[in-house]
Amino acid sequence: MSLTETAQLNKMRQTLIDVYLSGYAGMSEYAYTSSQDVWYYLKWLFRRSQGGFFLLLHSQLPRGFISTDPEWRDLDEKRIGEIHELVVTREFQGKGAGSLLLNRGIDFLCSKGHRRIGLWVGIHNYPAIHFYLRRGFRYGPVKGIWQRMYLDLGEITQKPS
Ligand SMILES: CC(C)(COP(=O)(O)OP(=O)(O)OC[C@H]1O[C@@H](n2cnc3c(N)ncnc32)[C@H](O)[C@@H]1OP(=O)(O)O)[C@@H](O)C(=O)NCCC(=O)NCCS
Repeated sequence: MSLTETAQLNKMRQTLIDVYLSGYAGMSEYAYTSSQDVWYYLKWLFRRSQGGFFLLLHSQLPRGFISTDPEWRDLDEKRIGEIHELVVTREFQGKGAGSLLLNRGIDFLCSKGHRRIGLWVGIHNYPAIHFYLRRGFRYGPVKGIWQRMYLDLGEITQKPS
C-alpha cells in the first residue's frame, strides 16, 4: 500500500520504527539506532516521497517499506529518481519482499518520468549491494562509507534465469 496521509504515518509510527530497527539490526554503522532518530528520519522520508512511500503488508502489518524521492538532485545537480530507503524486517528477508518493494518504487519513479534511479548503500553492506547488482544496478562513486549505485532504465532489471 502507498502511504500518502500524514495521519497514516502517525498511526503507524511504532510499527514502522520496529520494521526499520529489525531490518537494520546489527548494522549500526549505516542506520539510526534510537526510536526518536528513526521517527525524525521517517518523517523526512515521508515529506520527500510525494506518494512514493510504499509498505508491504502481511497479516495487515507492515513488514517492509520503500521510500522514494521523485525530485532529488544527483551529485551533478541533475534531477534523479532516488530511493532513500528500502528495508524489510529480519524475519521476512530472503522471501521476495524486497524485490516487490523495489519494483514498486522503480515503477513509481518511472511514472514521474525518470530514466535513471539512484541510491546510496553502505560500502560493506554486501547483501544489499549484491541484491541491487542482481537487479541491474551498477556502481557509482564512493563517498565516505557510502557507495552510490545507479539503475539506468532500459538495462536488464531482472536477474538472468
Ligand atoms: C536488502 C533488503 C531490502 C532485501 O530485501 P529482501 O526481502 O531480503 O529481498 P529478496 O527476498 O527479494 O531478495 C534477497 C536476495 O537474497 C537471497 N537470500 C537468501 N536468503 C536470505 C536471507 N536469509 N536474508 C536475505 N536474503 C536472502 C534471496 O534469495 C535473494 O537472492 P537474489 O538476489 O538472488 O534474488 C533486505 O535484506 C534488508 O532490509 N536489508 C537491511 C536493510 C538494508 O540494507 N537496506 C538497503 C539499504 S540501501
